[in-house]
Amino acid sequence: MMMMLFDSAGGFAGNIGHDPHILYTLSAIQVLALFDKLNVLDVDKVSTYIAGLQNEDGSFSGDIWGEVDTRFSYIAICGLSILKCLDKINVERAVNYIISCRNVDGGFGCTPGGESHAGQIFCCVAALAITGALHYVDKDLLGWWLCERQVKSGGLNGRPEKLPDVCYSWWVLSSLTMIDRVHWISKEKLIKFILNCQDTENGGISDRPDDAVDIFHTYFGVAGKTVAA
Ligand code: FPP
Ligand code: ZN
Repeated sequence: MMMMLFDSAGGFAGNIGHDPHILYTLSAIQVLALFDKLNVLDVDKVSTYIAGLQNEDGSFSGDIWGEVDTRFSYIAICGLSILKCLDKINVERAVNYIISCRNVDGGFGCTPGGESHAGQIFCCVAALAITGALHYVDKDLLGWWLCERQVKSGGLNGRPEKLPDVCYSWWVLSSLTMIDRVHWISKEKLIKFILNCQDTENGGISDRPDDAVDIFHTYFGVAGKTVAA
């Protein structure tokens, strides 16, 4: 099945007959790595596909259509790192591009000047961690912004004035962990919020209490609770 999603360009698509994209390519690599099956991959072809999406300024496009986003920088760096092929890209330029997306509040956005968002912060901090460039992060400033994401209910939001959402339990907590500031939020309150989002009759976790459960928030709720516990 996995090989049927593999495109001749070297990338993976979300489903059979769809176009390849760097997002699904990382998912394919991660799933295969989890099952210790990376040997089924044409590593040279897949890594060449990812590396081919790097632009002159160090940024990455998601596919041939060219949308640029720091999510794609993380995906390229994480995927190539799992495949041990980071030498196929210009890491220095990739890092410089990520740094150019850093804001005065210590956070990171999608592109230079883009609003800080916890999901993008996860991507940028993780990409800098993998490439040994975490010294570019102002840990106290970013740690302060990230711990301010915790609202009264104990849940975390993704940016100021927004509603809390279980998936930020992962994006925020893992970022705080990477910069050694995870003790700056109340883990007890966060765990309570995540457990309040459970459907205790049918199972699963929703984005916030009393919403419908879905697999995305179930996954990130379990992941966030694992880091917090
Ligand atoms: C909603 O934004 C977006 C999310 C809940 C996902 C955020 C996560 C990322 C950007 C990281 C993705 C990482 C990879 C590797 C693909 P919104 O502005 O609609 O929601 P808001 O109201 O919570 O701000
Ligand atoms: Zn969410």
